[in-house]
Amino acid sequence: MTKKDQIRSAYRLTGGHAGFYDGMMTYSTLPGKAVCRIVWNMDGEKNLRYLERALSGVPEDFSGRLLEVPVGTGVLTMPVYRELPDADITCLDYSPDMMGKAKERAEAVGIGNVRFVQGDVGALPFPDGSFDIVLSLNGFHAFPDKEAAYRETYRVLKPGGTFCGCFYIRGGCARTDWFIRHLYQPKGFFTPPYETEESLRARLKGMYAEAEVTRVEGIGCFRCGKGL
Ligand SMILES: C[S@@+](CC[C@H](N)C(=O)[O-])C[C@H]1O[C@@H](n2cnc3c(N)ncnc32)[C@H](O)[C@@H]1O
Repeated sequence: MTKKDQIRSAYRLTGGHAGFYDGMMTYSTLPGKAVCRIVWNMDGEKNLRYLERALSGVPEDFSGRLLEVPVGTGVLTMPVYRELPDADITCLDYSPDMMGKAKERAEAVGIGNVRFVQGDVGALPFPDGSFDIVLSLNGFHAFPDKEAAYRETYRVLKPGGTFCGCFYIRGGCARTDWFIRHLYQPKGFFTPPYETEESLRARLKGMYAEAEVTRVEGIGCFRCGKGL
């Protein structure tokens, strides 16, 4: 099985148990809260804090073109897109199972300005400079070819555009690092190598005209501006 197939099968499992996954991502169910506290050392406030930072690059009245990769089940972003009726939004994910949940969610609340594309972040099917914002929540720790993912998300961003989001970084919380190494990685949910806060900051500062990196426990949050 290739690395990509392993990841797809791990997330097929997750897509079939979206209730658990969504409860964890939104700190809203008992099992979800337990995972957040035990694995991530996060309570509701920290959970909200990292998400607010990750989404801070998306203005409240945004009306341009936004790419989200990977969208997963859309549990974190469909509520945001519902408030952006004038934006032109494209959501991409490798897993049809995860993205199927996102589509259902968008249809259920009548979001009409989002299209869904199955694909690989390492070979994005869009021309250079297509998007004003590229948003990536909790994806880079899963992507098998991270160099290609950094390259492609940069390529499809317009000059002056914003790249923002979050993902797991090593060294922020020892307990989280243990769980990633012994559980998440063997199951195929996460794929090394992982950034540290410092390596992520150095990388993004090297690529983008502006780059801000902050951390909440083992999650790194970033907001970058591409040069003109
Ligand atoms: C932890 S989920 C995050 C989903 C969502 N952004 C969230 O925060 O809930 C990681 C996602 O990355 C997707 N993924 C993994 N490798 C990918 C790739 N090469 N291209 C696109 N998506 C990929 C998986 O299918 C999965 O849906």
